[in-house]
Amino acid sequence: MRIGIAGVGRIGVMHARHAARLDGVEVVLADADPARARAAAAEVGARVLADVDAMLRSGLDGLLVAAGTPAHPELVRAGVDAGVPVLCEKPLAPDAARSRPLLEHIAARGGTVRVGHQRRFDRGYQEVRRALRAGELGWIHNLRALTCDQAPPPVEFLATSGGIFRDCSVHDFDAIRWLTGREVVEVCARGSNNGDPAIGEVGDVDTALALLILDDGTLASVAASRYNGAGHDVRLEVQGSRGTLVAGLDEHSALRSAEAGVAFPAGAPHATFAERFADAYRAEVAAFVALVRGTGGEDLCTPEDAVAASVVADAAQESLEKGAPVRLRAG
Ligand SMILES: NC(=O)c1ccc[n+]([C@@H]2O[C@H](COP(=O)([O-])OP(=O)(O)OC[C@H]3O[C@@H](n4cnc5c(N)ncnc54)[C@H](O)[C@@H]3O)[C@@H](O)[C@H]2O)c1
Repeated sequence: MRIGIAGVGRIGVMHARHAARLDGVEVVLADADPARARAAAAEVGARVLADVDAMLRSGLDGLLVAAGTPAHPELVRAGVDAGVPVLCEKPLAPDAARSRPLLEHIAARGGTVRVGHQRRFDRGYQEVRRALRAGELGWIHNLRALTCDQAPPPVEFLATSGGIFRDCSVHDFDAIRWLTGREVVEVCARGSNNGDPAIGEVGDVDTALALLILDDGTLASVAASRYNGAGHDVRLEVQGSRGTLVAGLDEHSALRSAEAGVAFPAGAPHATFAERFADAYRAEVAAFVALVRGTGGEDLCTPEDAVAASVVADAAQESLEKGAPVRLRAG
């Protein structure tokens, strides 16, 4: 089976590594920066092709889109038009408005597209979902999601990322919908910029908090920062009337207790998303290959779910900009 990877920057090269290690998978790749493509290809033992069209002409079985966000719609369309299943890194498009024509195109062509939301493949988040579905936590009074980078990505990346809610928190918006099966009806967001002023200059904030109200009244908070000195920290706490469960709390959590004599967590914190979610990313790419083979992939995020998470991210960005809560329209 031949898998093509379009874009081999921070995340594309990791996907290329994971795909290349799967049995029976040959990787070909392309990047707008030919030097980057050559370096990634040498590392994973892949062939470089000029661009997505050349990859599709080479006879792909699956296309993985990991280019920067602005290029996603064009690359996804190319895969769909060629009748090739596509795994697109989140988000499907820079915002929900630009995603909807793509959703229509995918449906009209009968395309198979999935979107990279790696928490769906993380064992802790999967256990939270199982416990919620089994009713083990009772009724839920609070969900608290957290996504913190140890250090900001390059400011050039932030300039086209759509803002911290669309870039970072969108994973938590997807996770909250996926875990609870509920829709978000209102968002109130705030942000701050106490780090590098260059982040503010490209229109983003370095730290943000969104309060979500779900359609059954449950409250959820989603926090994010680019300056978490303790390490890369992604957690989700769910508190219910009968119990509390936390995903991402283990010996590598980027925190320490203020209580005397508490040694937990004893391990080294993760430095990057690639370390924190290494197993989840591997499982996600394997699920895509299974989808292409027709033997699995059910847990991958559908484009409709990805756009629903983007709608929440857009509302959070709008609330941040307006300084007022935003109600979400149904549909
Ligand atoms: N799921 C996750 O946890 C996660 C983490 C990081 C990034 N992402 C997403 O992955 C995407 C890439 O992020 P990144 O951090 O790797 O960015 P990056 O800037 O490091 O890499 C993007 C690469 O895409 C290339 N590129 C741009 N347009 C292209 C095109 N038309 N064809 C081929 N290559 C093209 C660029 O030259 C660059 O090498 C973004 O959409 C981002 O939102 C997801």
